[in-house]
Amino acid sequence: MIKRAGEHASRRAQVAPFRAMAVLAAANARAAAGNDVLHLEVGEPGGALPPPVVAAIAESLGTERLGYTEALGLPALREAIGTLYGDWYGTAVPAERIAVTVGASGAFLLALLVAFDAGDRIAIAEPGYPAYKTMLRALDLAPVTVLTEPGGGFQPTLAELALAAPLQGLILASPANPTGTVLGAAELDRLVAACRSAGIRILMDEIYHGLVFGKEQVTLANRAPEAIVINSFSKYFGLTGWRVGWLVLPAELVEPVERLAQNLFISPPAPAQHAALAALAHKELFEERRATYAANWQRLARGLEAAGVGADAIVRADGAFYLYADVSAFTTNAAELCTTMLEETGVAATPGIDFDAERGHRFVRFSVAGSPEDVARAADKLSAWLPAQRRNRRD
Ligand SMILES: Cc1ncc(COP(=O)(O)O)c(C=O)c1O
Repeated sequence: MIKRAGEHASRRAQVAPFRAMAVLAAANARAAAGNDVLHLEVGEPGGALPPPVVAAIAESLGTERLGYTEALGLPALREAIGTLYGDWYGTAVPAERIAVTVGASGAFLLALLVAFDAGDRIAIAEPGYPAYKTMLRALDLAPVTVLTEPGGGFQPTLAELALAAPLQGLILASPANPTGTVLGAAELDRLVAACRSAGIRILMDEIYHGLVFGKEQVTLANRAPEAIVINSFSKYFGLTGWRVGWLVLPAELVEPVERLAQNLFISPPAPAQHAALAALAHKELFEERRATYAANWQRLARGLEAAGVGADAIVRADGAFYLYADVSAFTTNAAELCTTMLEETGVAATPGIDFDAERGHRFVRFSVAGSPEDVARAADKLSAWLPAQRRNRRD
């Protein structure tokens, strides 16, 4: 039935916008007007691709047909992703369990469709990546938010999960966005065992793997073969705009995912798959970024601490490229603080309300994926500017 006037879009389409994109638009407008802007709002690596990767991509443009590929992706790419698991974690994953997708976003769409039915209850950690909730709602699944605590690195605990029961699914993210915290092997094993006995399917977002600097990097790909693992070339490899990611699937879900992928996407974009192959062939060229992000994180934390942000107000990240800070000593409205900060210092950051509907008004997420120079300048600007905000704080 066509929607009545005033009801242009479906109920499924009533999802919240990404506030980070509004900050990005405001920051871009400021930059276009000739102002100095430091982009700590966007969750993507800056900088150009390493030249050998660019050369390999260019070669593929001249030599490959670049038409549709198989729905699950180029066999060579599935094979190369499987090998990456051997390199990173010691056990390769058979190419047959891998599906190449349109980014982690496309991977999530397929994973949610293949694993759940309308109405199923899926637990997600709050704070968390905002699209989990919106994707679940758009698919008529029921997001069940688990209010995680700073003591557990804002990762869900068994006790918190028990409160969310009954559940059909659980989305985990390690390292997580916006906190950068990592689930260790023991914590993961406990969660996997509990979910196994309760019949809860785990979807594990490993998009920030390769960027773990504080802890061991643990994948569920071989540890819990019933889990669905989501990953992407967007973060470690910095191929955000190419839109290529992947799933590691339980064997019995491969063929159903193939049918869904054929019908929803036909295939992932061929040029992007060749870019991903080129990136994998030169993966050592991306290694130094991890140390840069870790150093950027430390530099910004020092700047914030110098401004009077307590050490315990900064969530200790073990990976990714985010610093999530409680700024309630400076404001009762972090979104307002972000707007004023952009206007007065040129530093763009994302208000926590994007990630946590209940407590996000106290938090700001800074991305440290930019250059060390930019992060250092932002840290200096904030250590000079933030203290005055404490005096302006309205209660
Ligand atoms: C935790 C998390 N998962 C998934 C995505 C989506 O990534 P992709 O670019 O691969 O679609 C992002 C992007 O920022 C993210 O932060």
